[in-house]
Amino acid sequence: MPPAPGSAPAITFEAVRKEYAGSVAVDNLSLAVGEHEMLVLVGPSGCGKSTTLRMANRLVEPTSGRILLGEEDVTRADPVRLRRRIGYVIQHVGLFPHRTVAQNVATVPGLLGWDRGRTRRRVDELLELVGLAPDRYARRWPHELSGGERQRVGVARALAADPPVLLMDEPFGAVDPVGRARLQTEFLRLQRELGTTVMMVTHDIDEAVRMADRVVVLGAGAHVEQVAPPLEVVARPASAAVADLVGRGRVARLLALGRLERADLEPVPDDGREGGPGTRGRAAPTADGVRLGADAVRLGAELGDVVTVLTRAVDARGTALTAVPVVDDGVVVGTVTAQSVVRALHRLTDDAAGTG
Ligand SMILES: Nc1ncnc2c1ncn2[C@@H]1O[C@H](COP(=O)(O)OP(=O)(O)OP(=O)(O)O)[C@@H](O)[C@H]1O
Ligand SMILES: [Mg+2]
Repeated sequence: MPPAPGSAPAITFEAVRKEYAGSVAVDNLSLAVGEHEMLVLVGPSGCGKSTTLRMANRLVEPTSGRILLGEEDVTRADPVRLRRRIGYVIQHVGLFPHRTVAQNVATVPGLLGWDRGRTRRRVDELLELVGLAPDRYARRWPHELSGGERQRVGVARALAADPPVLLMDEPFGAVDPVGRARLQTEFLRLQRELGTTVMMVTHDIDEAVRMADRVVVLGAGAHVEQVAPPLEVVARPASAAVADLVGRGRVARLLALGRLERADLEPVPDDGREGGPGTRGRAAPTADGVRLGADAVRLGAELGDVVTVLTRAVDARGTALTAVPVVDDGVVVGTVTAQSVVRALHRLTDDAAGTG
């Protein structure tokens, strides 16, 4: 969720700069992460993403500027206590090699003095969550795991004590695409449920738009190119660098993120035939969940799903239909055609050029 108006941000970067001997990793970064927000940083290698995360929990000290956690200036906070409040998933995993999987996951609960029963239950629960059966994995050593499995242990370890704030540096990078999609979904479910504030880094724009409440596109020196909800970043890139990043596969991303609106629809034909069942205003056969004929879509449906229905819609004789009824609240409010989908894409993107 974007920060609720009026509520204090969970993390605030104020004109933060980090220099390393002779080079500037982060130039002048100002950014606020809302309470309970999932903020995803994306940008090219070396642009300062990891440095930014690491300054939030004082693994790296800023050269100048301030970072606030809630209202507290982190540069004045005790680093050890700070790190118990902030979960951190390291870019290259960083499991303790001399500790088993279970012991790694139990690191922060151990520091917090949880009893063994509670720790054990939490470890098992988290290993299940990241898809590592506890009876098979809990007692293994990190060197007995694949790269993707190690990464999942890293995510479980960061989540162990339900930290209110979580920093994740490319947490799923080494996980295969199927496992990754599953982890993303599970992780988002948990994040929403617990209300965790998350700052995550990824190279993968698709991961960013799938997971973020807001995406932050960074350029060299952690220069902020754009901060916006996923659809806006894809539909209205704020700079050439952002356009470049979302360019390939942009239409597919728009279809996944965009939704069907009234303005996209065609009217219901008078004879009611072309649009399939129902005429304007008449209750569609879905009202009490009876049956949403395969060939109808809901107002507000994902555009990608609309395309899927359109490509499959056939009439009783098996002839392909070019228009499909759209229902809202059990009432047919129009029809959708391929042209409507194109119109929706224009609606989403034309705004960028100020022509829509
Ligand atoms: N300890 C260090 N000493 C000197 N320079 C550093 C140090 N850590 C990072 N840098 C430099 O700071 C810049 C930003 O590094 P950072 O690790 O934040 O990039 P990144 O955006 O996370 O990149 P990647 O996507 O490859 O992980 C890079 O140019 C890097 O070489
Ligand atoms: Mg990095």
